[in-house]
Amino acid sequence: MFENLKAQPTDKILELMKLFADDPRDQKIDLGVGVYKNAEGVTPVMRAVKAAEQRVWEDQTTKAYTSLIGDPAFSDAMISLILGDAVPRANIAAAATPGGTGAVRQAFELVRMANPSARVYVSNPTWPNHLSILKYLGMETVAYRYFDEETRAVDFGGMIEDLATANAGDVILLHGCCHNPTGANLNLVEWQAVIDLINERGLIAMVDIAYQGFGDGLDEDAAATRLVASNVSECLIAASCSKNFGVYRERTGLLMAISQETSQQGLNQGTLAFLNRQNFSFPPDHGARVVSTILNDQALRADWAAELEDVRLSMLGLRQQLADELQKRSGSDRFAFIAQHRGMFSRIGAAPELVMKLRQEHGIYMVGDSRMNIAGLNATTVPILAQAIVDVGI
Ligand code: LMR
Repeated sequence: MFENLKAQPTDKILELMKLFADDPRDQKIDLGVGVYKNAEGVTPVMRAVKAAEQRVWEDQTTKAYTSLIGDPAFSDAMISLILGDAVPRANIAAAATPGGTGAVRQAFELVRMANPSARVYVSNPTWPNHLSILKYLGMETVAYRYFDEETRAVDFGGMIEDLATANAGDVILLHGCCHNPTGANLNLVEWQAVIDLINERGLIAMVDIAYQGFGDGLDEDAAATRLVASNVSECLIAASCSKNFGVYRERTGLLMAISQETSQQGLNQGTLAFLNRQNFSFPPDHGARVVSTILNDQALRADWAAELEDVRLSMLGLRQQLADELQKRSGSDRFAFIAQHRGMFSRIGAAPELVMKLRQEHGIYMVGDSRMNIAGLNATTVPILAQAIVDVGI
């Protein structure tokens, strides 16, 4: 049997992690995988997470199963964090999933189950694993224009033109904030125009929100998702706690299915539970319990929000420093977009050969499409990167 297996394509982002680890150079800089690192190059366990873990350890009396959709306290706390009071709770079905990727996978499966002929519109570019999962599930994808390679901002005209080709029932996958891989985002007026188009054409919105709190702030980063959820008849929201709670390896995420028809909620909820059961049965609990412990405790929540805000501001500071250094060293403003982008990533718009040159000649690792993880930098490495970018002729 095994001889029939074919080698599968490796994930470019994860492959880069290995290449970086194998590089013997001391001065190497990892701007690959989307993991936050502090100025010392460490991905710390957040203070509130440590405290909540201790509390869970002390208070937990059993490891018996929770429920197929996870602990309801987690869903409630996450729904409130992401949606505020934008949508009545009675209209939201939700299930905990193994990370944001688990939520994305379950959302696609739900789409395939409900409407096998639905096509999924994805931004060009999008997170490569979106495409990989859709392909694996045999679902048709259509790329819509998103990133203007010249301005490094959103090509909004192109995006709307392409979305207007979608048929009723097609799914439009949107990044709630901090677009991965580009860092370029819609403003709220543009979001409203996308929502209008979704409603006019009878399309289904799906939002992937994996970086809430990394862009402009917790509420600001959720504003577009709230606008979508409260203005369309049905939508799916896949959320991740990996980044904003720093619980990457705990696999903590949530999938929401929202309908303006309250009577639909029971069926949606049952479907999410069924899909969990088929794929992995009960979702992981530890990270979810830590997250709900934090969100439901005033002091822990305040401390978590403060630490997250420090992370956000440090990334903004690094963006500004890099834009300034590049301005100084290149004598041009063509890198000003780096300070405008939001979230962990910026696509700097360099040809693959130049990305390779950065790797070979300077030990600087970014994804082949020239996506760099801003959070992989610090005040000392920013000037080194800026000089390298200029030296290789980007
Ligand atoms: C990334 O895009 O680097 C992260 O979302 C990590 C991953 O799983 O790819």
